[in-house]
Amino acid sequence: MVRASDVVLLPIDDLPTRWYNVRADLPEPLPPPKDPEEGPSRVKALPDMLLGECLRQEASTERWVPIPEEILDLYAHALRPRPLVRARRLEAALKTPAKLYYKTEFLSPTGSHKVNTALAQAWYAKAAGFERLATETGAGQWGTALAYAASLVGLRTTIYWVRAVHDWKVERRAFMRLYGAEVHASPSPATKVGRELLAEDAHHPGSLGIAVSEGLEDALADDKAVYCLGSVLNHVLLHQTIVGLETKRQFESIGVTPDVLVSSLGGGSNFGGFVLPFLPDTFRGRPLRCVAAQSEAAPNLRGEYRYDFADHAGLTPLLKMYTLGHTARMHPIKGDGLRYHAAAPVLSLLRHLGYIDAVAYPADEKHVFARAREFVRTEGFLPAPESAYSVACAIDEALACRESGEAKTIAFNVSGHGFMDMAGYAEVLGL
Ligand SMILES: Cc1ncc(COP(=O)(O)O)c(C=O)c1O
Repeated sequence: MVRASDVVLLPIDDLPTRWYNVRADLPEPLPPPKDPEEGPSRVKALPDMLLGECLRQEASTERWVPIPEEILDLYAHALRPRPLVRARRLEAALKTPAKLYYKTEFLSPTGSHKVNTALAQAWYAKAAGFERLATETGAGQWGTALAYAASLVGLRTTIYWVRAVHDWKVERRAFMRLYGAEVHASPSPATKVGRELLAEDAHHPGSLGIAVSEGLEDALADDKAVYCLGSVLNHVLLHQTIVGLETKRQFESIGVTPDVLVSSLGGGSNFGGFVLPFLPDTFRGRPLRCVAAQSEAAPNLRGEYRYDFADHAGLTPLLKMYTLGHTARMHPIKGDGLRYHAAAPVLSLLRHLGYIDAVAYPADEKHVFARAREFVRTEGFLPAPESAYSVACAIDEALACRESGEAKTIAFNVSGHGFMDMAGYAEVLGL
């Protein structure tokens, strides 16, 4: 018999109508963006780089930011709220006393959580009179989400896609073009930054930091275009809190409080969106273990906590973050959405203050894909490679509970589906 509390649905009337801004509750103020000692002021150039409304949200310390009606309609259209599911078959297979719940962000039109900020940014851009959006993408999930959102509100999109991924994700590339997007492998000959890097290495695999530089350079050169970023910045994490807010309400509706929250972290919007709405209780003393799942190819939360650029070329202001260095070369992985040199400033501060734990899995990805296979065989859904890190970490936490005999409640976000990533699964698992 299906237990009513195993699939926790929220009625559409309970879709949260405000995003949560953790800056109102941070135990310490967030260090502000700043300029490097040399060169033009990047801080003063921010209004040219970001949408006005996003910039306002970037600096906001208001606890609740109302979601405009039109964006709520777009969220409903993208089938929000999304279910929270008890993974009973996985629990049984693991023989763990832990209770496992997963949030189904993979039920998104383009396949990931990225749609939550894409819809907001595209709608704000349209309202501000722009005609085109320029952006970077790593896994391809953000690029697809923005192309989708732009197509819904009637804008064009140009996407700079990390070459190492662009070259193998042939179907996702076609998917972006189906939405009308112009797609470049990054580094590309379309920008100065790209041309310089290609001159050094014609087969440069690219990185998210490089693709950010290209998207910015493109948008800055065209009055009708605006740059949109898919992670790292405060306003992106803010939009993603819709995921954690729904999850919190879903747990409240069944009278359960999670002990452990797990999600994968590249730049941090996925992890932040899931975890941040739970933190006010933790700031007031309620214990909560928050674990970020990363790759050893880019373990940015193990880097240095210092000011660094968000992009390769140093076009952005300096942000205080855990970073591996903005020009670090990181080995390509199948979960390439996690291959970014730094973690969001908000999450970096929380890590610095001891609220966030992190694990980094081996770059050959055998462990994470094998764990994802256990999830596929018991729960039936196929996680994106990046989400496989979240699944692996949740399973490892559940196995630790088996050792200790603790019946903890572990919640994890399956941030995307892997229907367009089968070549990655096949290669790593030898299918
Ligand atoms: C499916 C999926 N999950 C998680 C992430 C990581 O998101 P973030 O960079 O915001 O941490 C990505 C990034 O591309 C992704 O595509």
